[in-house]
Amino acid sequence: MSTPTRDDAAALDAADPLAAFRERFVIHDDPVAYLDGNSLGRPPRATVERIHHLLDVEWATQLIRSWEAGWMDLPEQVGDRLGAAVLGAAPGQTVIADSTTVNLFKVLHAAAGLSPGRRELVIDEANFPTDRYIVEAVASSLGLVVRWIPATETAEAGVTAEILAPRLGPGTAAVVLSQVDYRTGYLADLPGLTALIHAAGAVSVWDLCHSAGAVPIDLDRAGVDFAVGCSYKYLNAGPGAPAFIYVAERHLGALAQPIPGWCSAADIFAMAPVYERAAGIRAMLSGTPNVIGIVAVDEGVNLVAEAGIDAIRAKSVALTTMADRLARDVLGLSGWTVASPGEPTVRGGHVTVRGPGAASVTARLAERGVIVDFRHPDMIRLGLSPLTTTYGEVWTAVHALADVVVGP
Ligand SMILES: Cc1ncc(COP(=O)(O)O)c(C=O)c1O
Repeated sequence: MSTPTRDDAAALDAADPLAAFRERFVIHDDPVAYLDGNSLGRPPRATVERIHHLLDVEWATQLIRSWEAGWMDLPEQVGDRLGAAVLGAAPGQTVIADSTTVNLFKVLHAAAGLSPGRRELVIDEANFPTDRYIVEAVASSLGLVVRWIPATETAEAGVTAEILAPRLGPGTAAVVLSQVDYRTGYLADLPGLTALIHAAGAVSVWDLCHSAGAVPIDLDRAGVDFAVGCSYKYLNAGPGAPAFIYVAERHLGALAQPIPGWCSAADIFAMAPVYERAAGIRAMLSGTPNVIGIVAVDEGVNLVAEAGIDAIRAKSVALTTMADRLARDVLGLSGWTVASPGEPTVRGGHVTVRGPGAASVTARLAERGVIVDFRHPDMIRLGLSPLTTTYGEVWTAVHALADVVVGP
């Protein structure tokens, strides 16, 4: 593939089957290139309208009656829609609640509790801070041991079967992995690694923050046990919008989660003296659902469902391929390199470049209206959101980066 030109980018935008989706979002002229939708997606117009309706009608006029008129059912209803459009999950296994961090604590605690004789949790050192901290917290509260996969081993190609296999054994209770590495963008083999974990008699806990809404996911078919993820990246639900929890149906009966609240009780208005958990996935709730956040998740999921995850992935691959090609060609001999895989089948929705002074380069790009994402110590992530990112933005951003690091 030759280095894409500005005209190539314009031609790709003109032929883009998802181009019309950009109109469904509130987008201003500044910034000129927004490549940070993998941290915070853009606001859908439908979300703005839905939240206005929620405030003006459901809350202002119906007041507390709205809980019974539908609000109380939203965590499971929207969970099922997310399951169908994004996760490959049959109904009854997904719920919207809390943050990814809190949800990971809940599911990992529950996962470890399924096999009390097994005393080890496995995670890679390069995983997102939340995942590492929660694994340590659950290990310390249940008296378990953490088996760390060293970051030096996963730097080349993420967590692979060869790297994971020697860490598994009769003592393994659960393995926590991210489907897409938040720094390098490596896309793990979710079905293959899940099968490996099962062969060792352990359960899988997947963090889908960087894959939900960008990569097709087939949790049921892969036999995944537990998964969590956030809604404010590729699902465009807004800052701090609630996250999701997936628990495979076969585990729902035996589930004991560590933050039992009145909203996960069997009869929430019984105010029972003793906690009795709700049947099904509702048992993973804790307190009052964040209604404003959940309707925003609903609207984000609607857009993914309408576009179709396969079409989204096809554009994601085209966008990352262009970013990868441009970065390799125009950053050339500048001392900057591409940290993400060149092969699209093992790459998620972002492309990461690394080089000297990445923090100040990010700030200088922002001054030019190009928003990218610095990650300590030397990385810049180019996050590409297929429903809103144009090929033109990718071209503009990578050339602005080259201007800053190489000079015009
Ligand atoms: C991979 C990954 N896991 C977990 C989290 C934490 O999510 P939250 O802050 O919603 O708890 C993030 C946040 O960006 C993330 O990228």
